[in-house]
Amino acid sequence: MGISAKARWFVEYDSIEELRYALKLFGQGAAPEGEPEPSRPILHIGGGSNLLFLQDYDGCVLHSGIKNTSIMEEDEGSVTLRVGAGIVWDTFVDECLQKGYYGLENLSGIPGEVGASAVQNVGAYGTEAKDFIVRVETIDLNTGETRIFHAQECHYAYRHSIFKQPELFGRYAVTYVHYRLNKTFSPQLSYAALNKAWECLPSEAKSKASAIRSIVISMRNEKLPDPHILGNCGSFFMNPIITKHKFESLQAEYPDIPAFAATDGMVKVPAAWLIQQCGWKGKRIGNCGVYEHQALVLVNHGGATGKELAALSDSIRASVQERFDIDIHPEANFI
Ligand code: EPU
Repeated sequence: MGISAKARWFVEYDSIEELRYALKLFGQGAAPEGEPEPSRPILHIGGGSNLLFLQDYDGCVLHSGIKNTSIMEEDEGSVTLRVGAGIVWDTFVDECLQKGYYGLENLSGIPGEVGASAVQNVGAYGTEAKDFIVRVETIDLNTGETRIFHAQECHYAYRHSIFKQPELFGRYAVTYVHYRLNKTFSPQLSYAALNKAWECLPSEAKSKASAIRSIVISMRNEKLPDPHILGNCGSFFMNPIITKHKFESLQAEYPDIPAFAATDGMVKVPAAWLIQQCGWKGKRIGNCGVYEHQALVLVNHGGATGKELAALSDSIRASVQERFDIDIHPEANFI
């Protein structure tokens, strides 16, 4: 979000052994040299692209520098990679395509790192990380012990995993994610605009996953501001999932309301549409505002504080609640 915030300590580790050592120095019950009080909080971050700091962090921020990748299993049709949590997500996606490992091309251009992809279940243009995750290797930050979660144990759902459940939030640091990818390319074209752009390609381009990557990156560039230029964290809110009954009553009042099928007969409604209907799109309040081309994106026009953005988020939530009786939830983590 381009927010200025400081941590008391920042520790980047390059291996599981170094992480365990850092936990000895800064973890539960530890008293860092020269510091009288033990047990300051620990916050493990990835690329930090989905974090909103409301103030400085009076504790230890940990960051993974584990950047090695190895092949765990391979057969004719697929390969399973063990991928270091500290690798930049889009670098990983790009390298996979160059090696002929397919599946993640629709997730091109997403900010952040590999570790967070398994926490957040990143998703875009018809694909989610969970579609390819086999296992997640973690370290329990309370004990320093390794724990491996198989994909089924991660309870993956839309922008959700077990690692985001309140009772486990912040407890496990992801060290490696095991991704099983395909060796043959088969385009995932369920997102209508992607399918449309794909259909316009000459037939020789349609054998290449890199063509999907190019289309996805250009679609993202059109809709989403570059965070290096205009601070933002992509979608600030998640799309709400409502009952069919609730959707039908809204549809009676707003016949144009867009919707997508979700699991268990529920309906996903674009939060961007709800926010736009409430008149927020393109609005600026002080140093922050709602992006003019995508109502789901909150932006820092320069010098905004975390508290200002949180106040804007609260106002948007309240107006969506009042008008549609729907509670939208931030996707960004407030720290
Ligand atoms: N819409 C509006 N106003 C807007 C923008 C969109 O009304 O300003 C409506 C339109 O009806 C549009 C619908 O919202 O058809 C959906 O818009 P879009 O396809 O842009 O997707 P989104 O729901 O806004 C989600 C993800 C994005 C992801 C895109 C593409 C979430 C929270 N966001 O956005 O993810 O890139 O789909 O798959 O699910 C992110 O998580 O940071 C992110 C960018």
